[in-house]
Amino acid sequence: MNVLFAASEAVPFVKTGGLADVIGSLPQALAKLGVDVRVMLPKYEDIPGEWKERLEPVTVFTVKMGWREQYCGIEQLVQSGVTYYFIDNEYYFRRKGCYGYGDDAERFAYYCQAVLGALPHIGYRPDIVHCHDWQAGMIPVLYRAQYAQQPAYAGIRTVMTIHNLRYQGVFGKEQFRDYFSLGEEHFSGYALEQHGGASFLKGGLLYSDFITTVSPSYAEEIQTPYYGEHMDSLLRSQSHRLAGIVNGIDYDTFDPMNDPHIAVPYRDSLSKKRQNKLKLTERLGLPAMPDLPLIAIVSRLVDQKGMDLIGRVLPELMALDAQWVVLGTGEPRIEHMFRDAAGRHPDKLSAQILFDEALARQMYAGSDLFLMPSLFEPCGIGQLVAMRYRSVPIVRETGGLKDTVQPFNEFTGEGTGFSFTNYNAHDMLYTIERAVRMFHDPQAWSQIISNIRKKDFSWRKSAQAYAELYGKLKERVI
Ligand code: GLC
Repeated sequence: MNVLFAASEAVPFVKTGGLADVIGSLPQALAKLGVDVRVMLPKYEDIPGEWKERLEPVTVFTVKMGWREQYCGIEQLVQSGVTYYFIDNEYYFRRKGCYGYGDDAERFAYYCQAVLGALPHIGYRPDIVHCHDWQAGMIPVLYRAQYAQQPAYAGIRTVMTIHNLRYQGVFGKEQFRDYFSLGEEHFSGYALEQHGGASFLKGGLLYSDFITTVSPSYAEEIQTPYYGEHMDSLLRSQSHRLAGIVNGIDYDTFDPMNDPHIAVPYRDSLSKKRQNKLKLTERLGLPAMPDLPLIAIVSRLVDQKGMDLIGRVLPELMALDAQWVVLGTGEPRIEHMFRDAAGRHPDKLSAQILFDEALARQMYAGSDLFLMPSLFEPCGIGQLVAMRYRSVPIVRETGGLKDTVQPFNEFTGEGTGFSFTNYNAHDMLYTIERAVRMFHDPQAWSQIISNIRKKDFSWRKSAQAYAELYGKLKERVI
């Protein structure tokens, strides 16, 4: 089974969000199942030198974009059983960061055509091309419209995975007409049209053979207007070929027994975990209060993550018998809210407005509770890492949060965390208060920790589910 991943970011090369974690770990898990997975990424300026030095040239060809002909170099490196190809074009990709340029439509139009154009030149024939998010969304369109009929390409099947439906790659139709040599039929009526322009993601959803998203609940939710981002009716019409497969995390990368960033290695010993808590509060200048729960927020500071709920009840949260650590960057308004709260309550809250992987690990290790009250959450990775580090999640019941955190029931002793249903600040506050109460009940607490210990959030099961899906697509059962 040969599967080519097309995605715009992957750990350890370049990361702006959770997509990079998935593309950095799912291919390895599939490789362990015997799948020959290869990944194709743009060669961005920001890829660290240690990786760039290891790149080997593979081939050079030209990519046709409407009337233009653009250079395309393919370079490669092999890491943990997975071949990574990098698409080299300095005009498009030798810039800081990944996205946010005025010519992003052109850059990713180029990327999509380069991925398909490269196949005969790299001596690899995928059974499946697995496309992730809008940046790769035009690949299934181009495949159907221009490549499927060519002998070198015949029989390939395509999968489109939505990591976040909010980002749809909508641009003016004139740009699509200019960069792709597609007939007018693709722009009329139902096809690529979205909000008066055209959408990369919509193309991927309509022209791929199968659609997945990163949790079963999100797969259901996006078929409703509330979560559907104006694509819900399209997704309802495609529900027979839409499924959710929950993300895992890399259990070797995220392992409190073997994490170079944390002070004291541990797995289930809560006393060793407490030593990490002391180190963390010391590092952040918070007074040591080992008997109070330490609640962590490690997140992009944007509204999707439920930050406005926190803003609504901040004084009440600061009045709780708990300490808080916050790590992340995002909207200035939210950054300011946390800085301001830290200024007013220096004994209670430390706000670290930055991105720092080592500090993130120390927060997972040092905290007792982990708050993630998202407005919507396709899967979410923070809650999975938190559980791996035995920090008990408090989440809103949406998307992957609902699928991975089971609410604690003090009567049956079941459950791995705390959750609330409605997007309501006081429901959240009540749930946090309850979590703080349970922290002071040693029996309940050790029950929750032992329930968490029995869960498996590694990629094992999910990679198996993808492998089965690929198998069915290849055999044309679906
Ligand atoms: C996006 C989603 C997040 C998901 C990640 C990886 O970042 O917002 O919920 O975990 O993609 O699939």
